[in-house]
Amino acid sequence: MPECRTCGGALTEVYDFGRQPLSDAFLEPDKLEGEFFYRLTVGMCGACTMVQLMEEVPRDKMFHEDYPYYSSGSEVMRKHFEHTARAFLDTELTGPDPFIVEIGSNDGVMLKAIADAGVKHLGVDPSGAVTERARSKGIRTRTAFFEESEALAVVAAEGNADVIFAANTICHIPYLDSIFRGVAALLKPNGIFVFEDPYLGDIVERASFDQIYDEHFYLFTARAVRNMARRFGLELVDVEHFGVHGGEVRYTIARQGAREPKPAVEELLAEEDARGLAQLSTLEEFGMRVTAIKDDLVTLLTKLRYEGKRVVAYGATAKSATVANLCGLGPDLVEFVCDITPQKQNRVTPGSHIPVRGPEAFRDPYPDYALLFAWNHADEILAKEQEFRRNGGKWILYVPDVHTV
Ligand code: SAM
Ligand code: TMP
Ligand code: ZN
Repeated sequence: MPECRTCGGALTEVYDFGRQPLSDAFLEPDKLEGEFFYRLTVGMCGACTMVQLMEEVPRDKMFHEDYPYYSSGSEVMRKHFEHTARAFLDTELTGPDPFIVEIGSNDGVMLKAIADAGVKHLGVDPSGAVTERARSKGIRTRTAFFEESEALAVVAAEGNADVIFAANTICHIPYLDSIFRGVAALLKPNGIFVFEDPYLGDIVERASFDQIYDEHFYLFTARAVRNMARRFGLELVDVEHFGVHGGEVRYTIARQGAREPKPAVEELLAEEDARGLAQLSTLEEFGMRVTAIKDDLVTLLTKLRYEGKRVVAYGATAKSATVANLCGLGPDLVEFVCDITPQKQNRVTPGSHIPVRGPEAFRDPYPDYALLFAWNHADEILAKEQEFRRNGGKWILYVPDVHTV
Protein backbone atom coordinates (compact mmCIF):
# COMPACT_ATOMS: atom_id res chain seq x y z
CA MET A 1 0.00 0.00 0.00
CA PRO A 2 1.48 3.39 -0.93
CA GLU A 3 2.09 5.70 2.03
CA CYS A 4 1.35 9.36 2.66
CA ARG A 5 4.52 11.42 2.19
CA THR A 6 3.82 13.38 5.36
CA CYS A 7 2.11 11.14 7.94
CA GLY A 8 2.71 7.60 6.64
CA GLY A 9 -1.06 6.87 6.42
CA ALA A 10 -2.52 4.77 3.60
CA LEU A 11 -2.73 6.56 0.25
CA THR A 12 -5.55 5.78 -2.21
CA GLU A 13 -5.06 6.60 -5.89
CA VAL A 14 -7.62 9.02 -7.34
CA TYR A 15 -6.43 9.71 -10.88
CA ASP A 16 -3.69 8.52 -13.19
CA PHE A 17 -2.46 11.12 -15.71
CA GLY A 18 -0.04 8.62 -17.22
CA ARG A 19 3.50 9.25 -18.41
CA GLN A 20 4.46 12.90 -18.03
CA PRO A 21 7.62 14.98 -18.60
CA LEU A 22 9.15 17.61 -16.31
CA SER A 23 6.64 20.44 -16.70
CA ASP A 24 9.23 23.23 -16.99
CA ALA A 25 11.82 21.37 -19.09
CA PHE A 26 11.54 23.23 -22.39
CA LEU A 27 13.84 21.46 -24.84
CA GLU A 28 16.09 22.64 -27.63
CA PRO A 29 14.48 21.29 -30.82
CA ASP A 30 17.62 19.37 -31.83
CA LYS A 31 18.19 17.87 -28.35
CA LEU A 32 15.14 15.75 -27.66
CA GLU A 33 16.87 12.51 -26.72
CA GLY A 34 16.92 11.30 -23.15
CA GLU A 35 13.89 13.32 -22.07
CA PHE A 36 12.89 12.50 -18.48
CA PHE A 37 9.44 11.04 -17.82
CA TYR A 38 7.67 9.88 -14.67
CA ARG A 39 4.18 8.63 -13.83
CA LEU A 40 1.77 11.33 -12.65
CA THR A 41 -0.79 9.82 -10.29
CA VAL A 42 -2.57 11.64 -7.52
CA GLY A 43 -3.83 10.10 -4.30
CA MET A 44 -5.46 11.01 -0.98
CA CYS A 45 -4.29 10.02 2.51
CA GLY A 46 -6.96 8.22 4.54
CA ALA A 47 -5.42 9.46 7.81
CA CYS A 48 -4.52 13.16 7.39
CA THR A 49 -6.57 13.85 4.17
CA MET A 50 -3.55 15.29 2.31
CA VAL A 51 -3.94 15.04 -1.48
CA GLN A 52 -0.55 14.41 -3.08
CA LEU A 53 1.40 12.93 -5.96
CA MET A 54 2.27 9.26 -5.66
CA GLU A 55 5.63 9.50 -7.42
CA GLU A 56 8.26 12.07 -6.48
CA VAL A 57 10.50 13.70 -9.07
CA PRO A 58 14.04 14.44 -7.74
CA ARG A 59 14.14 18.12 -6.79
CA ASP A 60 17.33 18.99 -8.73
CA LYS A 61 15.63 17.92 -11.95
CA MET A 62 12.97 20.61 -11.43
CA PHE A 63 14.76 23.49 -9.67
CA HIS A 64 18.20 24.34 -10.98
CA GLU A 65 20.31 26.97 -12.72
CA ASP A 66 17.98 27.15 -15.75
CA TYR A 67 14.56 27.01 -14.02
CA PRO A 68 12.61 29.18 -16.47
CA TYR A 69 9.70 30.60 -14.44
CA TYR A 70 10.08 34.31 -13.67
CA SER A 71 7.34 35.49 -11.30
CA SER A 72 7.51 39.13 -12.39
CA GLY A 73 6.19 38.30 -15.88
CA SER A 74 2.61 38.97 -14.84
CA GLU A 75 1.45 42.50 -14.07
CA VAL A 76 -1.41 41.16 -11.93
CA MET A 77 0.96 39.02 -9.85
CA ARG A 78 3.40 41.93 -9.43
CA LYS A 79 0.54 43.97 -7.93
CA HIS A 80 -0.64 41.05 -5.79
CA PHE A 81 2.82 40.66 -4.23
CA GLU A 82 3.41 44.38 -3.84
CA HIS A 83 0.16 44.52 -1.91
CA THR A 84 1.29 41.52 0.19
CA ALA A 85 4.62 43.21 0.99
CA ARG A 86 2.88 46.45 2.00
CA ALA A 87 0.52 44.55 4.30
CA PHE A 88 3.50 42.91 6.07
CA LEU A 89 5.31 46.25 6.35
CA ASP A 90 2.22 47.79 7.98
CA THR A 91 1.48 44.96 10.42
CA GLU A 92 4.05 42.30 11.28
CA LEU A 93 7.22 44.23 10.41
CA THR A 94 6.78 47.27 12.64
CA GLY A 95 8.86 46.13 15.67
CA PRO A 96 12.40 47.26 16.57
CA ASP A 97 14.37 44.86 14.36
CA PRO A 98 11.96 43.30 11.85
CA PHE A 99 13.10 40.42 9.64
CA ILE A 100 11.22 38.56 6.89
CA VAL A 101 12.36 35.39 5.10
CA GLU A 102 10.78 34.25 1.85
CA ILE A 103 10.93 30.61 0.76
CA GLY A 104 10.82 30.39 -3.06
CA SER A 105 11.56 34.09 -3.57
CA ASN A 106 12.25 33.56 -7.28
CA ASP A 107 13.11 36.85 -9.05
CA GLY A 108 12.20 38.90 -5.97
CA VAL A 109 8.68 39.82 -7.01
CA MET A 110 7.50 40.07 -3.37
CA LEU A 111 10.72 41.07 -1.58
CA LYS A 112 11.38 44.05 -3.89
CA ALA A 113 8.99 46.34 -1.98
CA ILE A 114 10.45 45.11 1.35
CA ALA A 115 14.01 45.81 0.16
CA ASP A 116 12.95 49.24 -1.14
CA ALA A 117 11.50 50.00 2.31
CA GLY A 118 14.92 49.21 3.83
CA VAL A 119 13.59 46.33 5.97
CA LYS A 120 15.79 43.32 6.68
CA HIS A 121 14.86 40.42 4.41
CA LEU A 122 16.23 37.23 2.94
CA GLY A 123 15.07 35.16 -0.01
CA VAL A 124 15.87 31.44 -0.18
CA ASP A 125 15.43 29.75 -3.55
CA PRO A 126 17.47 26.99 -5.22
CA SER A 127 17.10 28.17 -8.82
CA GLY A 128 20.25 29.96 -9.97
CA ALA A 129 19.16 32.27 -12.76
CA VAL A 130 16.02 33.59 -11.05
CA THR A 131 17.92 34.28 -7.79
CA GLU A 132 20.62 36.08 -9.78
CA ARG A 133 17.87 38.29 -11.23
CA ALA A 134 16.65 39.02 -7.65
CA ARG A 135 20.17 39.92 -6.47
CA SER A 136 20.57 42.27 -9.42
CA LYS A 137 17.56 44.18 -8.03
CA GLY A 138 19.26 44.55 -4.63
CA ILE A 139 17.37 41.72 -2.91
CA ARG A 140 19.38 39.61 -0.44
CA THR A 141 19.03 36.02 -1.60
CA ARG A 142 20.54 32.63 -0.82
CA THR A 143 20.54 30.15 -3.71
CA ALA A 144 19.56 27.06 -1.73
CA PHE A 145 16.72 24.66 -1.03
CA PHE A 146 14.92 25.68 2.13
CA GLU A 147 14.82 22.71 4.53
CA GLU A 148 15.68 22.16 8.19
CA SER A 149 19.47 22.42 7.78
CA GLU A 150 19.15 25.59 5.69
CA ALA A 151 16.78 27.11 8.26
CA LEU A 152 19.34 26.46 11.01
CA ALA A 153 22.05 28.08 8.87
CA VAL A 154 19.82 31.14 8.40
CA VAL A 155 19.16 31.38 12.17
CA ALA A 156 22.90 31.16 12.87
CA ALA A 157 23.79 33.82 10.29
CA GLU A 158 20.82 36.19 10.52
CA GLY A 159 18.75 35.46 13.63
CA ASN A 160 15.06 34.56 13.92
CA ALA A 161 12.30 35.85 11.69
CA ASP A 162 9.05 37.71 12.36
CA VAL A 163 7.54 36.44 9.13
CA ILE A 164 8.31 33.47 6.90
CA PHE A 165 6.43 33.85 3.63
CA ALA A 166 6.05 31.51 0.66
CA ALA A 167 3.85 31.72 -2.43
CA ASN A 168 3.35 28.89 -4.88
CA THR A 169 6.27 27.06 -3.30
CA ILE A 170 5.27 25.01 -0.23
CA CYS A 171 3.02 22.81 -2.40
CA HIS A 172 6.16 22.13 -4.51
CA ILE A 173 8.04 20.56 -1.60
CA PRO A 174 7.50 16.84 -0.85
CA TYR A 175 9.73 16.95 2.27
CA LEU A 176 7.26 19.02 4.28
CA ASP A 177 8.41 17.61 7.64
CA SER A 178 11.81 19.19 7.14
CA ILE A 179 10.14 22.47 6.10
CA PHE A 180 7.95 22.60 9.19
CA ARG A 181 10.86 21.73 11.51
CA GLY A 182 12.87 24.47 9.80
CA VAL A 183 10.02 26.96 10.17
CA ALA A 184 9.60 26.09 13.87
CA ALA A 185 13.34 26.73 14.38
CA LEU A 186 13.46 29.98 12.40
CA LEU A 187 10.36 31.79 13.68
CA LYS A 188 10.49 34.22 16.60
CA PRO A 189 8.18 33.16 19.48
CA ASN A 190 5.31 35.28 18.11
CA GLY A 191 6.33 35.02 14.45
CA ILE A 192 4.08 33.78 11.66
CA PHE A 193 4.51 31.44 8.71
CA VAL A 194 2.30 32.59 5.83
CA PHE A 195 1.99 30.60 2.63
CA GLU A 196 -0.38 30.54 -0.32
CA ASP A 197 -0.92 27.79 -2.85
CA PRO A 198 -3.56 26.51 -5.29
CA TYR A 199 -6.58 25.35 -3.29
CA LEU A 200 -8.06 21.89 -3.70
CA GLY A 201 -11.54 23.42 -3.28
CA ASP A 202 -11.04 25.51 -6.44
CA ILE A 203 -9.37 22.68 -8.33
CA VAL A 204 -12.35 20.42 -7.68
CA GLU A 205 -14.92 23.16 -8.37
CA ARG A 206 -13.37 24.21 -11.69
CA ALA A 207 -12.07 20.75 -12.60
CA SER A 208 -8.73 22.54 -13.10
CA PHE A 209 -6.79 19.31 -13.35
CA ASP A 210 -3.80 21.06 -14.95
CA GLN A 211 -2.90 22.35 -11.48
CA ILE A 212 -1.60 18.80 -11.02
CA TYR A 213 1.98 18.32 -12.32
CA ASP A 214 5.44 17.35 -11.06
CA GLU A 215 6.07 20.64 -9.22
CA HIS A 216 2.65 20.69 -7.53
CA PHE A 217 3.26 17.78 -5.19
CA TYR A 218 0.49 18.71 -2.72
CA LEU A 219 -3.03 20.04 -3.31
CA PHE A 220 -3.83 21.64 0.04
CA THR A 221 -6.99 22.10 2.05
CA ALA A 222 -7.27 23.92 5.37
CA ARG A 223 -7.98 20.56 7.04
CA ALA A 224 -4.79 18.94 5.72
CA VAL A 225 -2.66 22.00 6.49
CA ARG A 226 -3.99 22.21 10.05
CA ASN A 227 -3.28 18.51 10.62
CA MET A 228 0.24 19.03 9.29
CA ALA A 229 0.97 22.13 11.41
CA ARG A 230 -0.22 20.50 14.62
CA ARG A 231 2.37 17.75 14.31
CA PHE A 232 5.05 20.44 14.75
CA GLY A 233 3.59 22.38 17.68
CA LEU A 234 2.12 24.93 15.26
CA GLU A 235 -1.48 26.03 14.67
CA LEU A 236 -3.43 27.31 11.69
CA VAL A 237 -4.65 30.72 12.83
CA ASP A 238 -6.00 32.35 9.67
CA VAL A 239 -7.03 31.56 6.10
CA GLU A 240 -7.80 33.85 3.20
CA HIS A 241 -9.12 32.87 -0.20
CA PHE A 242 -7.87 34.67 -3.34
CA GLY A 243 -8.69 34.49 -7.03
CA VAL A 244 -5.09 34.58 -8.32
CA HIS A 245 -3.68 31.56 -10.18
CA GLY A 246 -7.13 30.02 -10.49
CA GLY A 247 -7.95 30.13 -6.77
CA GLU A 248 -5.57 29.99 -3.84
CA VAL A 249 -5.74 29.96 -0.07
CA ARG A 250 -3.26 31.88 2.08
CA TYR A 251 -2.62 30.02 5.35
CA THR A 252 -1.25 31.79 8.44
CA ILE A 253 0.45 29.56 10.99
CA ALA A 254 1.75 30.48 14.45
CA ARG A 255 3.13 28.60 17.44
CA GLN A 256 0.39 26.82 19.37
CA GLY A 257 -1.03 29.20 21.98
CA ALA A 258 0.73 32.28 20.55
CA ARG A 259 -2.23 33.63 18.57
CA GLU A 260 -5.98 33.11 18.72
CA PRO A 261 -7.28 31.38 15.54
CA LYS A 262 -9.57 33.66 13.52
CA PRO A 263 -13.18 32.52 12.89
CA ALA A 264 -12.31 32.18 9.18
CA VAL A 265 -10.44 28.95 9.97
CA GLU A 266 -13.45 27.12 11.45
CA GLU A 267 -15.65 28.55 8.69
CA LEU A 268 -13.43 27.16 5.94
CA LEU A 269 -13.10 23.79 7.71
CA ALA A 270 -16.89 23.55 7.94
CA GLU A 271 -17.23 24.48 4.27
CA GLU A 272 -14.69 21.81 3.31
CA ASP A 273 -16.65 19.20 5.29
CA ALA A 274 -19.92 20.27 3.66
CA ARG A 275 -18.32 19.98 0.22
CA GLY A 276 -16.83 16.57 0.99
CA LEU A 277 -13.31 17.69 0.09
CA ALA A 278 -11.84 14.88 2.19
CA GLN A 279 -14.12 12.24 0.64
CA LEU A 280 -12.75 9.88 -1.98
CA SER A 281 -16.06 10.01 -3.86
CA THR A 282 -15.62 13.78 -4.43
CA LEU A 283 -12.23 13.20 -6.01
CA GLU A 284 -13.49 10.27 -8.06
CA GLU A 285 -16.20 12.51 -9.49
CA PHE A 286 -13.50 15.11 -10.25
CA GLY A 287 -11.60 12.35 -12.11
CA MET A 288 -14.63 11.63 -14.28
CA ARG A 289 -14.85 15.31 -15.22
CA VAL A 290 -11.14 15.29 -16.14
CA THR A 291 -11.69 12.38 -18.52
CA ALA A 292 -14.68 14.16 -20.10
CA ILE A 293 -12.63 17.36 -20.61
CA LYS A 294 -9.81 15.37 -22.16
CA ASP A 295 -12.20 13.67 -24.62
CA ASP A 296 -13.98 16.94 -25.49
CA LEU A 297 -10.73 18.85 -26.07
CA VAL A 298 -9.26 16.18 -28.32
CA THR A 299 -12.55 15.99 -30.27
CA LEU A 300 -12.68 19.78 -30.74
CA LEU A 301 -9.03 20.13 -31.82
CA THR A 302 -9.32 17.18 -34.21
CA LYS A 303 -12.46 18.68 -35.75
CA LEU A 304 -10.75 22.06 -36.20
CA ARG A 305 -7.80 20.39 -37.89
CA TYR A 306 -10.13 18.64 -40.37
CA GLU A 307 -11.83 21.99 -41.03
CA GLY A 308 -8.40 23.46 -41.85
CA LYS A 309 -8.48 25.99 -39.00
CA ARG A 310 -5.26 27.35 -37.51
CA VAL A 311 -4.98 26.69 -33.76
CA VAL A 312 -2.16 28.03 -31.60
CA ALA A 313 -1.82 28.03 -27.81
CA TYR A 314 -1.22 30.99 -25.50
CA GLY A 315 1.10 30.68 -22.46
CA ALA A 316 3.69 27.90 -22.21
CA THR A 317 2.68 27.25 -18.61
CA ALA A 318 3.96 24.41 -16.47
CA LYS A 319 0.29 23.42 -16.09
CA SER A 320 -0.07 22.90 -19.83
CA ALA A 321 2.35 19.95 -19.72
CA THR A 322 -0.37 17.93 -17.99
CA VAL A 323 -3.01 18.94 -20.57
CA ALA A 324 -0.81 18.41 -23.61
CA ASN A 325 0.56 15.05 -22.47
CA LEU A 326 -2.74 13.71 -21.13
CA CYS A 327 -4.50 14.65 -24.38
CA GLY A 328 -1.63 13.64 -26.67
CA LEU A 329 -1.40 17.12 -28.22
CA GLY A 330 1.45 17.84 -30.62
CA PRO A 331 2.32 20.26 -33.45
CA ASP A 332 -0.26 18.48 -35.65
CA LEU A 333 -3.11 19.87 -33.50
CA VAL A 334 -1.48 23.00 -32.03
CA GLU A 335 0.86 24.89 -34.40
CA PHE A 336 2.87 26.66 -31.70
CA VAL A 337 2.59 28.13 -28.18
CA CYS A 338 3.39 31.79 -27.67
CA ASP A 339 4.93 32.99 -24.42
CA ILE A 340 6.63 36.14 -23.19
CA THR A 341 9.46 34.25 -21.43
CA PRO A 342 12.67 34.48 -23.51
CA GLN A 343 14.04 31.33 -21.78
CA LYS A 344 11.13 29.28 -23.19
CA GLN A 345 11.14 30.73 -26.73
CA ASN A 346 12.71 28.84 -29.64
CA ARG A 347 12.42 25.67 -27.59
CA VAL A 348 9.70 23.01 -27.67
CA THR A 349 7.23 22.08 -24.94
CA PRO A 350 8.09 19.12 -22.71
CA GLY A 351 6.81 15.78 -23.92
CA SER A 352 4.48 17.25 -26.56
CA HIS A 353 7.27 19.04 -28.50
CA ILE A 354 5.16 21.98 -29.68
CA PRO A 355 7.38 24.95 -30.70
CA VAL A 356 7.38 27.98 -28.37
CA ARG A 357 7.46 31.43 -30.00
CA GLY A 358 7.36 34.99 -28.71
CA PRO A 359 4.05 36.86 -28.38
CA GLU A 360 4.67 38.68 -31.70
CA ALA A 361 4.13 35.36 -33.54
CA PHE A 362 0.54 35.39 -32.28
CA ARG A 363 -0.29 38.43 -34.40
CA ASP A 364 1.58 37.36 -37.52
CA PRO A 365 -1.13 36.65 -38.68
CA TYR A 366 -3.72 35.87 -35.99
CA PRO A 367 -4.81 32.21 -35.88
CA ASP A 368 -8.48 31.15 -36.01
CA TYR A 369 -8.38 29.72 -32.49
CA ALA A 370 -6.14 30.19 -29.45
CA LEU A 371 -6.02 27.55 -26.74
CA LEU A 372 -5.58 29.50 -23.51
CA PHE A 373 -3.07 27.44 -21.54
CA ALA A 374 -2.52 30.44 -19.21
CA TRP A 375 -6.25 30.55 -18.28
CA ASN A 376 -5.28 31.71 -14.78
CA HIS A 377 -4.11 34.97 -16.39
CA ALA A 378 -7.22 35.22 -18.60
CA ASP A 379 -8.25 38.75 -17.54
CA GLU A 380 -4.78 40.14 -18.18
CA ILE A 381 -4.29 38.33 -21.49
CA LEU A 382 -7.77 38.89 -22.95
CA ALA A 383 -7.45 42.60 -22.10
CA LYS A 384 -4.16 42.99 -23.98
CA GLU A 385 -5.15 40.74 -26.89
CA GLN A 386 -8.54 42.32 -27.69
CA GLU A 387 -7.54 42.72 -31.33
CA PHE A 388 -7.52 38.92 -31.75
CA ARG A 389 -11.27 38.64 -31.16
CA ARG A 390 -11.97 41.78 -33.21
CA ASN A 391 -10.32 39.89 -36.06
CA GLY A 392 -12.76 37.01 -35.61
CA GLY A 393 -10.47 34.89 -33.44
CA LYS A 394 -11.84 32.66 -30.68
CA TRP A 395 -10.31 31.56 -27.38
CA ILE A 396 -10.61 27.91 -26.39
CA LEU A 397 -10.85 27.24 -22.66
CA TYR A 398 -10.95 23.80 -21.09
CA VAL A 399 -11.87 24.54 -17.47
CA PRO A 400 -14.42 24.05 -16.02
CA ASP A 401 -15.36 22.50 -19.37
CA VAL A 402 -14.34 22.83 -23.01
CA HIS A 403 -15.83 26.00 -24.49
CA THR A 404 -14.94 28.89 -26.79
CA VAL A 405 -15.32 32.61 -26.16
N1 SAM B 1 7.03 32.79 -5.07
C1 SAM B 1 7.05 32.97 -6.52
C2 SAM B 1 5.64 33.18 -7.04
O1 SAM B 1 4.68 32.97 -6.32
O2 SAM B 1 5.52 33.56 -8.20
C3 SAM B 1 7.72 31.79 -7.22
C4 SAM B 1 6.92 30.56 -7.39
S1 SAM B 1 7.73 29.33 -8.38
C5 SAM B 1 6.33 28.53 -9.06
C6 SAM B 1 8.33 28.18 -7.21
C7 SAM B 1 9.71 28.56 -6.67
O3 SAM B 1 10.02 27.69 -5.57
C8 SAM B 1 10.82 28.40 -7.68
O4 SAM B 1 11.51 29.63 -7.84
C9 SAM B 1 11.69 27.30 -7.08
O5 SAM B 1 13.06 27.45 -7.38
C10 SAM B 1 11.40 27.43 -5.60
N2 SAM B 1 11.65 26.26 -4.74
C11 SAM B 1 11.46 24.95 -4.99
N3 SAM B 1 11.83 24.20 -3.93
C12 SAM B 1 12.24 25.07 -2.97
C13 SAM B 1 12.76 24.92 -1.64
N4 SAM B 1 12.92 23.74 -1.06
N5 SAM B 1 13.11 26.04 -0.97
C14 SAM B 1 12.97 27.27 -1.52
N6 SAM B 1 12.48 27.47 -2.76
C15 SAM B 1 12.12 26.38 -3.48
P1 TMP C 1 1.87 30.54 -14.72
O1 TMP C 1 0.47 30.12 -15.07
O2 TMP C 1 2.63 29.43 -14.03
O3 TMP C 1 1.92 31.85 -14.01
O4 TMP C 1 2.64 30.71 -16.11
C1 TMP C 1 2.24 31.70 -17.01
C2 TMP C 1 3.02 31.56 -18.29
O5 TMP C 1 2.36 32.36 -19.28
C3 TMP C 1 4.46 32.08 -18.18
O6 TMP C 1 5.30 31.27 -19.00
C4 TMP C 1 4.37 33.48 -18.76
C5 TMP C 1 3.25 33.36 -19.77
N1 TMP C 1 2.48 34.58 -19.99
C6 TMP C 1 2.45 35.13 -21.26
O7 TMP C 1 3.03 34.57 -22.19
N2 TMP C 1 1.74 36.29 -21.45
C7 TMP C 1 1.09 36.92 -20.42
O8 TMP C 1 0.49 37.96 -20.62
C8 TMP C 1 1.13 36.33 -19.10
C9 TMP C 1 0.40 36.97 -17.96
C10 TMP C 1 1.83 35.15 -18.94
ZN1 ZN D 1 -1.28 11.58 5.64
